[in-house]
Amino acid sequence: MFNVKLYNKISKIGLDQLDPAGYACSEDFEDYDAVLVRSAKLHDVQFPKSLKCIARAGAGVNNIPLDRCAEEGIVVFNTPGANANAVKELVICALLLASRKVVQGANWVKGLAGTPDIGPAAEKGKATYAGPEIAGKRLGVIGLGAIGVKVANAAVGLDMEVWGYDPFLSVDGALALSRSVKHVTELDQIFANCDYITVHVPLLADTRGIIGAEAIAKMKDGVRVVNLARGELVDEQAMAAALESGKVAAYVSDFASDAILAQENAVTLPHLGASTPESEDNCAKMAVKEIVDYLEKGTIRNS
Ligand code: MLT
Repeated sequence: MFNVKLYNKISKIGLDQLDPAGYACSEDFEDYDAVLVRSAKLHDVQFPKSLKCIARAGAGVNNIPLDRCAEEGIVVFNTPGANANAVKELVICALLLASRKVVQGANWVKGLAGTPDIGPAAEKGKATYAGPEIAGKRLGVIGLGAIGVKVANAAVGLDMEVWGYDPFLSVDGALALSRSVKHVTELDQIFANCDYITVHVPLLADTRGIIGAEAIAKMKDGVRVVNLARGELVDEQAMAAALESGKVAAYVSDFASDAILAQENAVTLPHLGASTPESEDNCAKMAVKEIVDYLEKGTIRNS
């Protein structure tokens, strides 16, 4: 019998897999063998000696104290690829939101509520909320992991010219990448040449602020940037200044920050990338399987 501590609500389909296996799950355990977590930050949590593994139902593991886990012999799993389709779909949506002022236009029309003859009144927004098509534009994808590869391939399907950068492109990633995606070896090639840039790298010391003032200065005037990965990948003060000056024409992110919220040409979401029932089920099932396989067989698998 193993105890699994839940730090977040996890999809029922995953928890149901634990029941037949005879596990007890609770948010209240003080002694437990495994942790299931989604986005809760565990940096300040003192783990019991009984803890053997942590499974994160998601891709990023920046909410987990990896160094301490390594010292204490706690194995950490994530669920790579399990939410990649959900995130890819929102990134495609974000590229379109960075172009066509759907959110700004819709908000403006809401403000017309109660206006007599609202149809003609709303048409006045046509020119104000116009925006370019993405077809034929060049998209730079920074990071070609499970999500980046899917985004790159989907953007090819929307007739974008796609360039991808990843210093650690895996064999699987290379095989999954459409032949129409140009793989560049320097990040600056993305910065200097792309009309749209989307970032799909984990948050690490090396990637924090990867899109900062210096990178933005190298970008084309009027570039449109999407960041659904981690807020800290972008220096938000630098981005706010670039939005203000028009250097960056639009920024769509999945993280709220005061500096960005004030900008008319920014769209900010509440970290919705993986928020689909399909993705939540996939992540929960994979995370539970990782725990069960490890506790029962000692198998370490991240998929
Ligand atoms: C992830 O790390 O998997 C994504 O950011 C999605 C999420 O955590 O909600």
